[in-house]
Order: sequence, then C-alpha cells, then structure tokens
Amino acid sequence: MVATFYISNFIVKSRLFIHVFSLPFLFFFNYNTYPVNKKITVIGAGNVGATTAELIARDGFTDVVLFDMHEGIAKGKALDIMEACPLWSSPASVTGTASFADTADSDIVIITAGFPRKPGMSRDDLLHANADVIKEVTEGTVRHSPDSIIIVVTNPMDIMAYTALQVSRFDYRRIIGMGGVLDSARFRTFVALEFGVSPQDIEALVLGGHGDQMVPMPRFTTVKGIPITELLDANDINRIIERTRNGGAEIVSLLKTGSAFYAPAAATVQMVRSILFDEKRLLPCSAYLEGEYGIAGIFVGVPVILGRNGVENIITLELTKEEKAMFDRSVSAVRAMIDTLNPA
Ligand code: NAI
Ligand code: 2OP
Repeated sequence: MVATFYISNFIVKSRLFIHVFSLPFLFFFNYNTYPVNKKITVIGAGNVGATTAELIARDGFTDVVLFDMHEGIAKGKALDIMEACPLWSSPASVTGTASFADTADSDIVIITAGFPRKPGMSRDDLLHANADVIKEVTEGTVRHSPDSIIIVVTNPMDIMAYTALQVSRFDYRRIIGMGGVLDSARFRTFVALEFGVSPQDIEALVLGGHGDQMVPMPRFTTVKGIPITELLDANDINRIIERTRNGGAEIVSLLKTGSAFYAPAAATVQMVRSILFDEKRLLPCSAYLEGEYGIAGIFVGVPVILGRNGVENIITLELTKEEKAMFDRSVSAVRAMIDTLNPA
C-alpha cells in the first residue's frame, strides 16, 4: 500500500516535472510555428468575414479582430468563435468591435465589408454602394494600421482594390485582391468532378478580373501534371470553363439570400497564410500592374508570389493570341468600371 503510494506519487511528480521542464520547449516550438504576436483584422462580420475569422482562429496562428458597423453582430460572432477555440485547442483571441481603435496596429486587414450579390444582380451592380464602404474602411485602416497589408474581398473586387489603393496611398504591393484563388479552386473542383479524382491532384489557373470575363486557363490546368487540353475535348473544357465563370452566380441562385462564403473564406486564408508565414506561394491574385502583360494602372488577376511584403513578384506568362484577347477583354471590363467610378 505504502509502496504503491510512493510509486504513484513519484510518477505524478515526475510527470509534473516533465511537463514543467517541457514548457519552455513547447513555447519555443509554438512560437516558431505560430506567429502569435501578429494581429489580423477582418472588416465585415457577415458571411465571408465571420467565416474567415473562424478559420484563422481555428488555425490558432494569430489573434483576430472582427469589425462591423453592427457592433452586436461583430461582438456576438467573435465571442461565439472564441468559445469554440478550446474545442479546437486554439490559443487565439477573437475580439468583436465597431470601433476602429480596436483594430490598431494590425499586420493584415481583410476587407469583406459591403453588400453581397442578390439573385439577378451582377457583381458590377454593387460598384457604387461598395466603393463608399471601401473608402470609409480604408480610411480607418490607414489611420489605425498604417503598416498593414490589405486583402480586398468586397466586390467588384478588382475595382475595390483599386479604390483601396487610391484612398490609402499605400505601396501598391501591400494591397491584394482575392478572386483568382477562389475561381481556381472552383475550376479545380469541377475538373476533379469530371475525372472522379481528388481535387488535390488538380492544379488550375484563372486569370483576369474576378467577374464574368474571368480567364480560366486550361493550358495551365492539370490532372497530376497532365494539361486538361490533352485529356478532354474542347466542348467538355468549355463546359467546365462556363461553370467556373458562373461559379459565384450558381451559388447565389441556390442560396437566394446571399452569395458564397465557405470557399471565399478558405481562399482568403490561403493568402493570409502565405503572407504571415512568408510562404511565397504562387497564387492568382488581383495585383496592381505597372506594365506587366502590357497593362498599367489597374488591378487584375495575375500569378503573384505572396510573402511577408505582400506582392513580392508578378509572374508574366507568355499568353497565346486567344488567351491574350480574353485577358484584354477582362481588363477592359475592369477599366470600364473604374472609369464609371472616376468619370473624367
Ligand atoms: P454579408 O452581407 O454577409 O456581410 C457584409 C458585412 O459588411 C455585413 O455584416 C455588414 O454589416 C458589413 N458592412 C457593410 N458596410 C460596412 C461598413 N461601412 N463598415 C463596417 N461593416 C460594414 O456579405 P458577405 O457574403 O460576407 O460578402 C461580403 C462581400 O464580399 C460582398 O461584396 C461580396 O460580393 C464579396 N465577395 C467577394 C468574393 C471574392 O471572390 N472576391 C467572394 C465572396 C463574396
Ligand atoms: C463569388 O464569386 C460573389 O464574388 C463572389 O462567389
């Protein structure tokens, strides 16, 4: 009996010793894996914003501030997400707020505030209403997080990214639009469904504006490295391309009361990770062009290397005549909306 007590006491104490002894190591490894000293603000606590905050908090790699003009929604969703953190074993802290002061010194600000598409409404219809929202929240971001990197999600995204650049006067490499990662994920999904293979084995690339004129690139879309142009006939490829172009609208017409948010949030978080961990992922993002692809002065989707400085490089692909014509059409659609917003 006494021996059992001593043995179990010894085991408990030595376990405690091991735990206490390992704490600094745990901290060291966690500290290196998770840059917990970073701060991310998500502006807009609606479907996309709250889901993005949820994914970031779940990963546990940084604290999150969820900002919305409706304070109760921001605070309520933030608290709900934070109460899930123990279940995810996540150390993240999530704060909801309607006060820009609480977003101060964010490393990354993700703008999802605005109005979503309703059935029958094009992304372009959102132009004026959302430009006013972007101006307001960009001004708040500049005031409180002057060194941040901004990821713009609000539609029409390429034009909203341009508006954020105009208002913030940030270095253009610190403003990036999310669209191509989502459109490429949709393209991957539809190709995977076509072949009955895991989407993990599909790579896909969609360039151009995040709008009806986006440019899915079958030549750079592969099943385990094999371009789909070698595996499918033109009709099948065109069918998949059309579904990709229509990917957002397909979900709007099913939901009836809003637009997609799970895949958009996941796409945004892939970009966040690449910046936060300096992963240097090559991702299709909306970036400000200064002559690449023969285009200057607008944001449009191109392959970008994303790292801790934001857009670290833009990859210029050699486009075929047909691809270039589609890309130029998409660019013209983006430019036309910028001209509508900023009439001469
Ligand atoms: P939602 O309506 O669920 O959420 C929008 C939130 O923004 C609301 O909570 C609203 O209160 C807030 N908000 C509006 N004006 C604000 C302001 N001035 N300050 C602070 N908060 C403000 O919309 P959802 O579904 O989250 O979509 C958000 C935006 O993202 C839409 O413009 C949508 O079209 C766009 N989107 C873009 C995608 C892309 O690939 N770039 C993909 C999915 C959505
Ligand atoms: C989407 O593609 C609405 O842009 C949004 O789902």
